[in-house]
Amino acid sequence: MKSNTKPTSGRLLYAQSGGVTAVINATAAGVIDTARAHGVKVYAARNGILGALREELIDTSKESKAAIAALRHTPGGAFGSCRYKLKSLETHRAEYERLIEVLRAHDIRWFLYNGGNDSADTALKISQLGKAMGYDIRCIGVPKTVDNDLAVTDCCPGFGSVAKYTAVSTLEASLDVASMADTSTKVFILEVMGRHAGWIAAAAGLAGDHADAPPHLILFPENVFDEAAFLAKVKATVERVGWCTVVASEGIRNAAGQFLAEAGTRDAFGHSQLGGVAPVLAALVKDKLGYKYHWALPDYLQRSARHLASKTDAEQAYAVGKAAVQYALADMNAVMPVIVRTSDVPYRWKIEPAPLSKVANHEKKMPRNFITRDGFGITAAARRYLAPLIQGEAPLPYGKDGLPKYVQLKNAAVPGKLPPFKP
Ligand code: F6P
Repeated sequence: MKSNTKPTSGRLLYAQSGGVTAVINATAAGVIDTARAHGVKVYAARNGILGALREELIDTSKESKAAIAALRHTPGGAFGSCRYKLKSLETHRAEYERLIEVLRAHDIRWFLYNGGNDSADTALKISQLGKAMGYDIRCIGVPKTVDNDLAVTDCCPGFGSVAKYTAVSTLEASLDVASMADTSTKVFILEVMGRHAGWIAAAAGLAGDHADAPPHLILFPENVFDEAAFLAKVKATVERVGWCTVVASEGIRNAAGQFLAEAGTRDAFGHSQLGGVAPVLAALVKDKLGYKYHWALPDYLQRSARHLASKTDAEQAYAVGKAAVQYALADMNAVMPVIVRTSDVPYRWKIEPAPLSKVANHEKKMPRNFITRDGFGITAAARRYLAPLIQGEAPLPYGKDGLPKYVQLKNAAVPGKLPPFKP
């Protein structure tokens, strides 16, 4: 994990990748603050690795201390993100050569790539460039994903906040449907993100902790969707409680392995674009049980809801950015700072380096013992794991207009030195 020669000068390049979160900019703040404290200049790539390939770099030293501090409470990705897969060095050498050219032209010695498991794979490939192409570069992966599906780390920055948003929304919407159920809506369906792993859906389970409390059903992508069992449980719940709240992961599939809600498009990694399982389930409830329903698809709202962020998550997001810079400057390569849980109650955690090779391309799903035997709820073990992650509020400054004071960076471009390149 250590490289041969320690760079004594040079710049650090930071890039955001994949789906953004409510707290990814807190990680950026952790990176920039820490690098500044060590006298290292940080460039950011515009739109992730694409900015590095296109030589579209941003000079973060042009930003004030206050602007960087405000990143800690600003959602979205301040420098832009991308879904772009670097292919193998063997088949796409020109792309790697271009990357090295850009890194060399701007004296970039450290590269920090902030993303999920696909991005960890990209970071790993870049960390190997030094050997393969004779340029001295250290690459550190920095964890982020609302999906919470990265291997090795106990949880992923971004998840705690989407988990809090989901649990709170489940609770609030359930109070609404309970009020209306006598004469109007009987079933409320909330669809949440999570392509293959049901962590976000599971977090909804924190809204209530007894059989009649919402959510009454959670549909996990880890389980095959069983229409008959689903309808039977919805019916039994409405008959017993008077109404029913369902939380469904966008990634649920039928017995043939097909997503219930596939939009028909795919991203650069070949992942299906999902979204729309709630109306499919609602139609079933109406057709087969005759109940009036409402459904909601918070979509980007859930991963950008900084007003409802978890304090724990915001702190962890900052801490991984800080640690990533410390690792880079300590001459480490091909590692990722991961969150290690040292105690459930009281919740305690620390950051440690883990090899990127153990994180890249692995997907951590919900363990079987986190899902109740009937497949529709979370167990006490899951609650123990999830509960600390939504702890604490991370308040925002609000302006006179009643809106949060989010920062818009200047994002000053670093003058280009190379001819244009089309990735
Ligand atoms: O990668 C996280 C994620 O939020 C998934 O849960 C979701 O399916 C996907 O991103 C949406 O991606 P995009 O913003 O590229 O459509």
